[in-house]
Order: sequence, then structure tokens, then C-alpha cells
Amino acid sequence: MPVDRHLFGSFLEHMGRAVYHGIYEPDSPLSDHDGFRTDVIALVKELGTSIVRYPGGNFVSGYRWEDGIGAKASRPIRFDEAWKSSESNQFGTDEFLAWCAKTGVEPMLAVNLGTRGPMDAAHLVEYCNGPADSPYGKLRAENGHPEPYRVTYWCLGNEMDGPWQIGHKTAHAYGLLARDAARAMRAVDSHIILIASGSSTFTMSTFGSWEKTVLAECSEVIDGISMHGYWGNFDGDEEAFLQSWREMDRFITRMEEILRDEGRGKKLFISFDEWNVNYHERMRSASAEAWKEWYHTSSCFEEFQRKFAPCISEARRELFGKSAPPLIEDTYTMEDAVVVGSLLCTLLSHAATVKIACIAQLVNVIAPIRTSFANAWRQTLYYPFSQASAFGDGDAYRLSFSNPAIVGVMMVCGSMHTLFLVNTSLKEDTELVVENALAVDHQLMCSDADATDTEAAPFAVVPRTVRDIRQEEGFTVPLPHLSWNVVRFTSRTSR
Ligand code: AHR
Repeated sequence: MPVDRHLFGSFLEHMGRAVYHGIYEPDSPLSDHDGFRTDVIALVKELGTSIVRYPGGNFVSGYRWEDGIGAKASRPIRFDEAWKSSESNQFGTDEFLAWCAKTGVEPMLAVNLGTRGPMDAAHLVEYCNGPADSPYGKLRAENGHPEPYRVTYWCLGNEMDGPWQIGHKTAHAYGLLARDAARAMRAVDSHIILIASGSSTFTMSTFGSWEKTVLAECSEVIDGISMHGYWGNFDGDEEAFLQSWREMDRFITRMEEILRDEGRGKKLFISFDEWNVNYHERMRSASAEAWKEWYHTSSCFEEFQRKFAPCISEARRELFGKSAPPLIEDTYTMEDAVVVGSLLCTLLSHAATVKIACIAQLVNVIAPIRTSFANAWRQTLYYPFSQASAFGDGDAYRLSFSNPAIVGVMMVCGSMHTLFLVNTSLKEDTELVVENALAVDHQLMCSDADATDTEAAPFAVVPRTVRDIRQEEGFTVPLPHLSWNVVRFTSRTSR
């Protein structure tokens, strides 16, 4: 089955400098007349992002979407409870949808099921998709958009299983709420695709039971279920960190079983709509120990919060209540790019069930793209993503290797075969022999584990094309330690 292009999605939250100073900066000379950073749009296009989830994340669970529409001068400034920041609402639904159209990405909107409910969600669907003579469609038309946006993808809340979530609910309460919201939203537009909130991490003690209960209440009105996962080297154990993909693989495999057993005969898809490496800033903060514990036992949230509260107030005192402060702006390394590459291979090898996946986030906040007022640049993990998106067409085939350090997946599109291969070993180089095939090219990214791309040295780590593939009856590809590789070939008979 061909890989769904939505597997190359991303995520943009009203958090830190993702929206403001990330994609939207009206006073920048780099911005267009809508205030959108054109350099960032160019990088997002090159990244090959297909779908972008918005506006959160934890932010959405306290968000009033009506604050972000209409004349900018009359939009209220609010305190965002999720990130303890000031929200100016200068960027909202219309701006996001205009940005998506300019960038050529599909929007995926999340509705607030934390502090709000089915009626507000249905009104937002009507604002986006209703005819111009419907009450909220009329409001949209008055705001300058007579044509419906036809937003197809909708998330029913965010991480509703997490005790940290504003308006966190029990599985039963959420299942009923998701069901009612889905019905109300579908009554406005029957074409929308709805994704219920699944488990926030693999380590949630409720993983499995949450899904069973939620699906019992709402499987007939939803199309997919979400999963989230962030990985990091919290223990200073590089070898274990480099094997993070195995946990993602187990997480998805278990979710596939749950969907098979609990989907009531309906084929539901997985939307892995937040995934990435996320730990550098956390490990540098005063709350590093708490984050480490959280990473391993995210189910003990109360305990985590008890320990974390004094640290967070310490760490965030400077930033509390500020507008778009810098939050979790991880600077990524070559090692992180290797982990991201192997997570991408894992997602692709589950393409039969994973139809949407969003690297989280897109700009500045744990992101492949970073900005300053003067520049935008690609981080190391930008490249595995952009190459997977560029060359990841066709059918995906799961591969397994006798060498446990190698992770990979094969894409077949007509006569073109593309291997995405990651050597996760810290020291051992190896090679791949492909028989009875004609090599097209080998693109390789490798460097020291801690090498980074920064504003000062934006092209320090980039992929390069390797030209010396031996080409006889087949070919041999070097797979250096800590490397991301794209190997393309055709079968000998197809030329
Ligand atoms: O991406 C940052 C946060 O991580 C999101 O707001 C939340 O959904 C997740 O816990």
C-alpha cells in the first residue's frame, strides 16, 4: 500500500517562538505583506511538510478560537495557562489557513476539548467550512474569506489522557465528549476526518486501557486515533538513546493490536501527530532530574509535579507571562539526526496503519527549522526528514538486518527502489551489498555525534552524494557509523 504523504507532517503550536518570531513576524524585512516570514516558508516547502497540525498541543486545551479572528486591534491579549505566556492573538485561524495556502501544506486543526465542548468545536468547523450564509460562515466572509476553507483533518482535543492537560479527563468522560463533539462537528460538515486523542507516551500507565475505553464510546464516529512520543538521552546512555526507535516500534505495534481488537470492525488509522527528540533544553534546566524521572515514569504525574513545581518556577521566573519567550529551543546534533532518521524508518515501516505523522514541532520549538530576526536555518534533523519526504514515494517494505545497529526501510515506486538506512552504531562502520541491481545514487549524512548546524555555521552537517559506488553485478554502499543514508537503485531488468 502506498505511503500516505501525510506521514511527512509537522506541528505548529502557540508555544514559545514557534508562531511569533517563527513563521509570523510582521516587523521583519523578511516577511511578506501578511507578516509571514518568507525565508521560513521557503524552508518549510523544501522540508517537504505535507500537513501541519495547529494550534496545539497543550495550548489548545485553554484556547478560545474566537479570540484569534476579526480585526487585529480588537483581539484580546490573554494569559495562556498551558505555557504561562501572554498570547496576543495576532495570529489565529485565518492567518494559519492563509499561511498553509501560501506554503502548500494541508491544515489539521485541533479543537479544545479541555475547557470547551462540542458546540464550540462545531462552531469552529462552521467558521472554516460552512457556507457564507451560515452564521459562522457569514462571520468568516465578513472577515474577508467568503469561500469555505474546507479543512478536512480535525483532532478531538490534545493529550486528554495526561494529568498535565488543562481539562484532563478520565477515559470514559473523554470518550463520551469525543463522541458528542464528533457528532456535532460532522453535523456541520460530513466530509471531515476526525482523530481521537490516544496515549501521550508509551510509558503512560493508562496506555491500552485508555484506548479501549475511548474506542468503546466513540469508535463509530472517529476515523483515527493519535499517539505521541518524544525521546531523549536523559541517562547519558548514547547507545540506549540510539535505540529509541525500538520503543516507537513497540508502541505502534501495540496500538495496531488494540485497534484490531477494539475498533469494532472499523479500520481506524494511527495519527502519530507529535514525535521527535526532545531533551537538550530540559537537561540543561534546573528541573533536569525531574524531567529524567518523568521520561521514565510519566504516569506518576503528581509525584513529578511535586518535585517539579519549585524548579519550574525557578527556571521559568524570567519567562513567566512574557509574549513568545524562547521555550525548548533544542539545538540538535548529528546523533539526534540519526535517531530521527530511525524513527522515520519506523513510521514508514508501519505505513499500513500510520497515515499521519507530525514531527514536533516545525519552527524554533524542538524543531527542524530555527530563526533569529535576521536568519532562518536548518537543524541537523531537517535533512533525514526532507530526504525521506523527497524520496519516500511508493510502497514501504519493512526490513530487518542481522546487524542490530542497522535500521532501514525500502520504498518501491515503479522500477525505482529507495533504501533509507541508518547506522546507529557509535563506532562500527559497515557496508551494504545489493545484488542484481543498478545503483542510482547514495546520499550520506554523517559526522561527529555532537556536531550541530547553527546560525553561525548553518551548513556544518549536511548530506552529500557519494559517487564511488562500485557497480558490477550489483553494488556496495558504505554505511559509516552514526550515519543517515538514502540509497537509490533500479532492478537490472528495468533499464
Ligand atoms: O510539543 C510540546 C508539547 O508536548 C505539546 O504541547 C504537548 O501536546 C506535548 O506534551
